[in-house]
Amino acid sequence: MSNTYYLPQANEVELFEVAASMNLPLLIKGPTGCGKTRFVEYMGDKLKRDVYTVVCHDDLSAADLIGRHLIDENGTYWQDGPLTKAVRNGGICYLDEIIEARKDTTVILHSLADYRRVLPIDRTGEMIQAHPDFMLVVSYNPGYQNLLKGMKPSTKQRFISLSFDYPHAGVEKEIIIKESGVNADIAQRLTTIADEIRQLDDNDIQEAVSTRLLVYAGKLISKGFNPYDACMHSIVESLSDEREVLEVLERLVQLHFIQKN
Ligand SMILES: Nc1ncnc2c1ncn2[C@@H]1O[C@H](COP(=O)(O)OP(=O)(O)O)[C@@H](O)[C@H]1O
Ligand SMILES: [Mg+2]
Repeated sequence: MSNTYYLPQANEVELFEVAASMNLPLLIKGPTGCGKTRFVEYMGDKLKRDVYTVVCHDDLSAADLIGRHLIDENGTYWQDGPLTKAVRNGGICYLDEIIEARKDTTVILHSLADYRRVLPIDRTGEMIQAHPDFMLVVSYNPGYQNLLKGMKPSTKQRFISLSFDYPHAGVEKEIIIKESGVNADIAQRLTTIADEIRQLDDNDIQEAVSTRLLVYAGKLISKGFNPYDACMHSIVESLSDEREVLEVLERLVQLHFIQKN
């Protein structure tokens, strides 16, 4: 049994299982806070595979993924990085926000993602054939950039792709209840607020309200915060810095929760 709580939105669990069984890499696209990381953790539990998560950024080097020589009192020794550990011992290597990583870092993934499934380690002269239980999973937010554009066709065409979005209202409500402990009525109001914000077409809101923010709001309410204040501190303030936008969002929250003071 899996310990990680995850409520499926569609057929993503089956798709992940098929990709894993066919030794294919998986690409997950979706806005921030919609459940991508939680999903990969859940699948790791379900398939009984370790998950090595790396959140990518522009300072991430190939050595951060592959490994490096270290020195101790006995001299130098090699230490596998998270990618090499997963390749060597089996496991899921999950590269979150892969678009943030530089090209010269991600180029090492090509031979792993295509039919060869090998990882060459220049520093040690090793060429590691991936363990049967090795799986590469990458995710990114297509709202920012297009990952596929920069990828070689031979690599790109190996990926099984999954597109995530914020869960449907019913699913999202259940997630909020389970994750934050609020009652069904509060959860319903939070999802309604989210739906209304998501329908606003405002350039000043860089990204729509995420499931993560709704869970935060729920948690503040569970901790005893007045629901109106909880929404202000979680949902509203984190979506914009523009005075007029904040006022629109504030009014929207006021329709559902009473402002005290
Ligand atoms: N389908 C889901 N099942 C359970 N929790 C979810 C789900 N989707 C989102 N969540 C909640 O939203 C939070 C953010 O999800 P996360 O996986 O970190 O988002 P992402 O990786 O897409 O940015 C999680 O910590 C969890 O509380
Ligand atoms: Mg994530």
